[in-house]
Amino acid sequence: MNMGVDVKAFEIRSGKPFLDVLYGQSSQRLPFWFMRQAGRYLPEYRALRADKGGFLAMALDPVAACEITMQPVRRFGMDAAIIFSDILTIPMALGRKLEFIAGEGPKLDALESMAEVANLDFSQFSKLEPVYEALRQTRSQLQKEGFSETALIGFCGAPWTVATYMIEGGSSRDFVKTKVMAYSDPEGFSALIELLVEASAQYLIEQVRAGAEALQIFDSWSGALDSDSFMRWCVRPMREIVTLVRAACPDVPIIGFPKGAGYNYQVYVQETGVNAVGLDSQIPVEWAARSLQNFVPVQGNLDPLCLLAGGDSMILAVEKILVTLGRGKFIFNLGHGIHKDTPVAHVEQLVAMIKNHKVGN
Ligand code: CP3
Repeated sequence: MNMGVDVKAFEIRSGKPFLDVLYGQSSQRLPFWFMRQAGRYLPEYRALRADKGGFLAMALDPVAACEITMQPVRRFGMDAAIIFSDILTIPMALGRKLEFIAGEGPKLDALESMAEVANLDFSQFSKLEPVYEALRQTRSQLQKEGFSETALIGFCGAPWTVATYMIEGGSSRDFVKTKVMAYSDPEGFSALIELLVEASAQYLIEQVRAGAEALQIFDSWSGALDSDSFMRWCVRPMREIVTLVRAACPDVPIIGFPKGAGYNYQVYVQETGVNAVGLDSQIPVEWAARSLQNFVPVQGNLDPLCLLAGGDSMILAVEKILVTLGRGKFIFNLGHGIHKDTPVAHVEQLVAMIKNHKVGN
């Protein structure tokens, strides 16, 4: 198999089930965490948000970000806490204006041509300092509150996904501007992707220095690309980031999440050198068990809307995931971020099912 990047054979036993599985080792219990586990479905988050104002203000306030990161861990005892931040902090640190408008999502000043990429630089990279400070505080808070088996995750968006926000000026359904830019000016677009590779690697390395014990890279819109473009704009940049981060932080596992990549999940796993892969809900778990889990540990993939609905459909879906993936190297998660209207009672029921699962069955 061509792994592209040399994956270190980890021989570390961390005492944290989530990290042990990422290191390719067995674990006493099935580790779990949920994407967007901190957020609006939690009453304690809504209370703090009403108090503190906007999302970005909270994400850039280390005390608030630490508190919000801790909230779901206190309720549910996850095996990993993901730092409360956003993938769009990188465009902000590259000098782009960023706002989150309630009910509308993120807004950025859009890049109109790839000639503008030459004006982007790292002179405002210190805007990311509050994220590092939040990581330092959260790492010590986890210890202080007795969550000694909960690992801390740092993250960023993958270059392709972040580029879509920078070019579209916010969320998009079909990525028309970005895809036309990539097809019509591949050299110019490549300059933006390369800048984002460098920025992402630097950001992730600093997150590790501040206390992140594992990293996840979100490629939320990788499913929008044809196969050749997927290789060029998702796989290749991801492999470069993995190489750069691993050179600086050889022991820190990296999880890739190429949401929507479908058939291309396999080449992604083989060519990027990630330690583990996050599965979206469209990936059939039987296929993942046969075709991915023999290469790397997998994480996923309950449909967040199945969790929102709850009831028998949820129980059946969870059992199927546990039976099919729970025998191999596996971390339970959702296939995408938790929905804001999810009843806390459904999350409690899911957590009870995961905690009851016997590893090895
Ligand atoms: O998982 C976590 O708990 C950590 C925090 C986290 C957030 N965003 C907080 C957030 C993470 C890991 C992200 C990643 C992120 N952000 C992605 C990749 C994952 C994915 O969802 O595909 C993307 C594409 C973004 C960009 C983004 N941020 C959008 C499109 C939105 C608006 C949509 C929405 O849910 O409101 C955000 C805002 C955002 N990021 C919120 C949170 C908790 C909502 C803020 C609020 O109104 O309270």
